[in-house]
Amino acid sequence: MFNNNKKQIDSASQLDLDRIPKHIAIIMDGNGRWAKKRHLPRVAGHKQGMETVKTVTVAASKLGVRVLTLYAFSTENWKRPMDEVNFLMGLPVKFFNNFVPELIENNVKVSVMGLIDQLPEKTQKAVRDAVAQTSQCTGMILNFALNYGSRLDIRTAMQQIAREVENKTITVSEIDDALISRHLMTGFLGENADPDLLIRTSGEQRISNFLLWQIAYSELVFTETLWPDFDGDTLKEMILTYQHRNRRFGGLKNEE
Ligand code: FPP
Repeated sequence: MFNNNKKQIDSASQLDLDRIPKHIAIIMDGNGRWAKKRHLPRVAGHKQGMETVKTVTVAASKLGVRVLTLYAFSTENWKRPMDEVNFLMGLPVKFFNNFVPELIENNVKVSVMGLIDQLPEKTQKAVRDAVAQTSQCTGMILNFALNYGSRLDIRTAMQQIAREVENKTITVSEIDDALISRHLMTGFLGENADPDLLIRTSGEQRISNFLLWQIAYSELVFTETLWPDFDGDTLKEMILTYQHRNRRFGGLKNEE
């Protein structure tokens, strides 16, 4: 109470704890290269990547992040060899089988976005069970983009909106940014639908059909670190970079 005007700085990382991004989205890249460097099959990288998801989830939750959206499988990833796709489809099952209690301990609520109905039955069940088991949690939302693509997201939203116009539920002039946001797959996140910070690992600097509408004003941070090597300290580094940016949202000075 007495420290209302004093910045809360984490001395080890220099993070301003009052300016933690509310919504962080991550393109988790580099699993295959991590495995190759170790002469391991690509799937070993994905398995290690799943361990990183656990570490980063707990770290983000402890920092006070409100939403962590992870790009786990894109609508384009079906093009990968069948064995790799099958392995990736098994990861949510492995992940939730042993991690749900820790998610609940950390008050983390699981959500998913994407074409879930097209996933194998066992993956669907694992995901739906985890959503149900954590539904009472009120802390960070761990939002998995699974069989997600941003053009699919925008196309589906446009179709829904067009139908509403056709049914005369809304008029064309009622279509504004807020209405579009509500119809996107991130709509359920309300005021936190748009990421403040988007991270991509492994040195690639692309968006790869991820949250195209939602990242209009996000800060983009790229790191050479491969996803399986990413950890709580890397997350803090990324947030520190974010905190050094001057977010203007099209205006002239720092309006945050
Ligand atoms: C991209 O690396 C990574 C993926 C397509 C899969 C990401 C999935 C995980 C990190 C695990 C998800 C965990 C859960 C619980 C669902 P890449 O294979 O393209 O790497 P490369 O560019 O080095 O080949």
